[in-house]
Amino acid sequence: MSEPVVLGIESTCDETAAAIVRGRELVSNVVASSMDEHARYGGVIPEIASRAHAEAFVPVVSQALADAHMELSDVDAIAVSAGPGLAGCLAVGVSGAKALAYAAGKPLYGINHVIGHIAVTQLQFGAFPTDTLALIVSGGHTSLLHVTDVARHVDVVGTTLDDAAGECFDKIARLLGFPYPGGPHIDRHARLGNPKALRVPQGLTQGRSGHAHPYDFSFSGVKTAVARWIEAQQAEGNEIPVDDVCASLANSVADVLSEKAGRACEKFGSDTLIVGGGFSANSQLRDMLVLKGKRHGIEMRIPQLKLCTDNGAMVAMLGVNLVEAGVKPSSPDFSIDSAMPMDQIVME
Ligand code: KG4
Ligand code: ZN
Repeated sequence: MSEPVVLGIESTCDETAAAIVRGRELVSNVVASSMDEHARYGGVIPEIASRAHAEAFVPVVSQALADAHMELSDVDAIAVSAGPGLAGCLAVGVSGAKALAYAAGKPLYGINHVIGHIAVTQLQFGAFPTDTLALIVSGGHTSLLHVTDVARHVDVVGTTLDDAAGECFDKIARLLGFPYPGGPHIDRHARLGNPKALRVPQGLTQGRSGHAHPYDFSFSGVKTAVARWIEAQQAEGNEIPVDDVCASLANSVADVLSEKAGRACEKFGSDTLIVGGGFSANSQLRDMLVLKGKRHGIEMRIPQLKLCTDNGAMVAMLGVNLVEAGVKPSSPDFSIDSAMPMDQIVME
């Protein structure tokens, strides 16, 4: 089997998605989102998201197969996100995928959604170099990984000790009155503001804590400092300079992420950085990573925007890697794992 064909299914949060990947080629890619149903609550409501997955599962998978002019019998394997994510949401995707795999007699892989976020870059840039560094920035995760082999072995080099960057953006966005998810709104306003207007703390970069945690992150201090500043302005009846707040926040966070990622590349002798996760859509981060890459001779593999947020292509791509590497499929009774550890690539 030279070019495995894999159907990937994603349902960790508010996107029901399915895609077909052949080798490194994206054949079809369908995403249905329940995001609009959550916007008025200011965050994803698990019950609503689970129900939306149950509704969308069959239509989305059928559409992905139809767009690829394929039937289920044409795929070599099925991959599904088994974690991390919302338990009820994962259960819908995993149960659906198990039923398909059972009915069609196909191998099934319960994969790690977070690893999928970096695997997806292969559709754009080709296979991973061996021993490369990866920066994962999603809604729930901010981590640096050392990827020895994306199908077999990854190590966590550093991670956030509290909030993820995406979470921090979403919380501040709420204070500024933006609808969920707030990240893209902060991005847009940041382009118009002065990044030096506010001093935003850069957690774990200075002094002893910076020394003790060179590759770890902390964003809860950022969140608190910006929230206090906004509240103080409001208390004095001042108008909030939204663009400046966004620019200061976005630039400070992008600076820490790109600085630590660059340093980790240096330490591990990696001349490539794989970037993935919803937050990698952030334009301030993208700009800073590109700049850093030019200065330090690091090839930055930042996915195109449609591959940054949750999709089925990332799941199918990691599935292809697993098939190619001859990794054993997950056993029929594998469970979901809403807190799947970052260094676990696939469920046994
Ligand atoms: O990876 P993802 O789609 O979902 C998880 O697996 O968590 O990431 C979603 C996160 C949200 O926090 C969202 O606000 C953030 O990515 N995000 C952005 C941008 N686009 C999405 N944050 C900042 N700037 C953006 N352009
Ligand atoms: Zn994600």
